[in-house]
Amino acid sequence: MARTRSVVLLVLFTLFLSFSCNGVLGNRGLHNNKKLAKKTIQVFPPSQLKGSRDPQKSSSLFNPSNFWLNGKGCPDGLVPIRRTTKDDLKRIKLATEIHASKYNPLTTDKHGTHYAIVGTTDTNTKFHGGSAIISVYHPSVVGTQYSSGRIKVQNGPDSIEVGWTVNPTLYKDNLTRLYTFTKTANSACFNTLCNSIKPVRSDMPLDMVLEPVSTINHKYDWKFMLFWDAPNGNWRLKVSKDETEIGFWPKNIFTSLGDGANYVEWGGEVYGPPDLPSPPMGSGSSMLEMTRYDAYCRLVKIINETDFEVNPVGTKAFSDVNQYQAKDEGDTHEADFQHLVLFGGPGGYTGP
Ligand SMILES: *[C@@H]1O[C@H](CO)[C@@H](O)[C@H](O)[C@H]1NC(C)=O
Ligand SMILES: *[C@@H]1O[C@H](CO)[C@@H](O)[C@H](O)[C@H]1NC(C)=O
Repeated sequence: MARTRSVVLLVLFTLFLSFSCNGVLGNRGLHNNKKLAKKTIQVFPPSQLKGSRDPQKSSSLFNPSNFWLNGKGCPDGLVPIRRTTKDDLKRIKLATEIHASKYNPLTTDKHGTHYAIVGTTDTNTKFHGGSAIISVYHPSVVGTQYSSGRIKVQNGPDSIEVGWTVNPTLYKDNLTRLYTFTKTANSACFNTLCNSIKPVRSDMPLDMVLEPVSTINHKYDWKFMLFWDAPNGNWRLKVSKDETEIGFWPKNIFTSLGDGANYVEWGGEVYGPPDLPSPPMGSGSSMLEMTRYDAYCRLVKIINETDFEVNPVGTKAFSDVNQYQAKDEGDTHEADFQHLVLFGGPGGYTGP
C-alpha cells in the first residue's frame, strides 16, 4: 500500500514537473482548455488501495438535478495541475491569508468573514465524514470578496472544506468553481497550493467550473462528500451524483484529522473588507423558507463510525450577523430532501 502510494505521489510529482494540462493560470479555466498533453500516465485512485472501502448508504439517494461536466479536462490518466506564475502566487497567498485568518465560526471577532452554517453539537462523537447536496449559485462579488457554499470537517487544528465558491482573488475570474481548503497546524491553502489534497482525476480538476448555476426556476446542485478512510487514515473527496472520487488527503499531513473528525458543518461563508458592504451569500435570499428561493444543503449526512451515511443527530444553526441566516429544517421526511439546511442572505453588512 505504501508502495502504491509512493507511485501515485511520484507520478503526480512527475506530472507537476513535466506537464501542465492547464497551462498558465489565466482567463481560461481548466474546463475549456483544448491544448492537451499527448502522453497518458496511469494514475491509481486511492480507492484501489488495499483496505479502502466506501461508505454505505442507509437510504437510497434520489438527486435528479445533479449534473456533470464531460470531456472537458485532460486526457485519460493525466491529472491537471495548475502552473503558477509569481503574480499568481502573490494573489493566491493573499486569498489564503484572507481565508485562513479566521477559523472558528463561533468567534465573531475576525473582521470581514461571515458565516451562516449548521454544525454538529456533540464533540465526543467521532465522524468518518460528512456529505450534502448543495445548490450552486453565482453571487456577485467585487475586489477581494468571496462567497461560498460548502461542507467542512474538523478536528483540533485540522480542517477540510469543500464546496463551490466565487473567489476572484483566488481564481482571477468571477465563475462559480469547485474549491477545497485545507488547514493543518502547519499550513493552510486552497486546492493543491500546499502539501494537501492529491488530485486523482484528469477530467474533474479541483478548480473546475460548476455550471450552470441555479435560478428561481431551475436548481442545479452538487453532491460533496468528505470521507475518512479508517484503515489507512486518509481523507477522500467525492463529488457529483456519481460520487466520483477526485482527490485524497494523506493521513500524515494532519495531527488530529488523521484519526477522524469530531465536527461537521454545512452552509455558507463570505468574506469582504469590513469597510465595504459585504457580498450576497447563496442565492442572495434570506430565509424565505423555501428551496425555491433560498440556497440549500439537502440530504445533509454524517458518516458514522461504521461508515454509514446517516442523518446527523445533534445539529445547531449559527450565523454571526443578521444579513446572513442559516435554518436547520432537520429531517423533512421527504426523500429528495431528508435533513435540510437553508442558508444565505443579501449581505450589505458593514462593520466589524
Ligand atoms: C467580477 O465582476 C465584477 C462586477 O461585475 C467586475 O467589476 C470585475 O472586474 C470582475 N472580475 C473579474 C476578475 O472578472
Ligand atoms: C451507523 O448507521 C447504521 C445505519 O443506520 C447503523 O446500523 C449503525 O449501527 C451505525 N453505527 C454506529 C457506530 O452508530
